[in-house]
Amino acid sequence: MDVIAPVADMRAWSRQQLTAGRRIAFVPTMGALHRGHISLIEKARTLADAVVVSIYVNPTQFDNPEDLAKYPKTLEADLAMCREAGAAAVWTPETAEMYPDGYCTFVEVVGPLSDKLCAVARPGHFRGVCTVVTKLLAVVRPDVAVFGQKDLQQALIVSRMAGDLNLGTEIVVAPTVRDPDGLAMSSRNRRLSPESRAKALGLPRGLELARQAYRAGQVTSMKLIEIVAEELLVHEGVDIDYCDVVSLKGFAEAEHADDACVLAAAVFVDGVRLIDHVPLAGHAIPVKVD
Ligand code: PAJ
Repeated sequence: MDVIAPVADMRAWSRQQLTAGRRIAFVPTMGALHRGHISLIEKARTLADAVVVSIYVNPTQFDNPEDLAKYPKTLEADLAMCREAGAAAVWTPETAEMYPDGYCTFVEVVGPLSDKLCAVARPGHFRGVCTVVTKLLAVVRPDVAVFGQKDLQQALIVSRMAGDLNLGTEIVVAPTVRDPDGLAMSSRNRRLSPESRAKALGLPRGLELARQAYRAGQVTSMKLIEIVAEELLVHEGVDIDYCDVVSLKGFAEAEHADDACVLAAAVFVDGVRLIDHVPLAGHAIPVKVD
């Protein structure tokens, strides 16, 4: 596995692969890798001849400097996991090259995808994501890039952007990987104490209970949202950032839920921000509900 930092070296590596007729699949990450990331690498391997993983904590997508400073960094372990998962190359770009002095170009998706959920809670976040993903794709030039459904709004925005800008990379979305207790895997979970983690389980449990209520006939979005809130707000130190029912048809907030809807939420658990969602017509989240 090649470990590459300079933009020019990454570009040369990709050009060599493409000239040899090899398909490239790309998995962009911010490191602190876990099984969720690895599942994307495994998916990528089925789609191409060579998998490139990028590890870069992108400063332009953080609206909160403290969140950026606290973002976990575990490069040696990350490289070992990428090697074991069969990545052909890992790219670790430097901020001095990604955003040199005088940098002033940004990419933004506007409209329904970008005016709700995480876009409201984290102003500028998706502009930063779109900008860095465009830059990463411009250097790696992959045939396909794999994103996690865990960050549903990000996956939808990036898919839209790649199409709108004719980037020539197919965007594939892979399912959310969860721990056995139901918590969606996230680099941020490392910052949860055992007590905080127990509180955080209210998120997947609330989403699953709401999904079950929907299946049993409850279609009033407010009622479904209340079910999630009840599971979470019993704990001290838990704040709900947002909880909404959104239709994937047009990405609009829905007063009445239907099978095209997802229930999506972001919560702060003792200061750690976690997001999750459940498609209301989808599979059960494996949580303990009593
Ligand atoms: P990061 O949070 O490191 O996530 C990298 C990729 O892993 C994203 O596509 C994300 O959706 C996916 N992922 C995270 N947790 C997952 C889980 N439990 N199951 C499945 N996939 C999961 O998302 C980012 O980084 C950044 O915004 C990035 C796209 C790299 C741009 O900076």
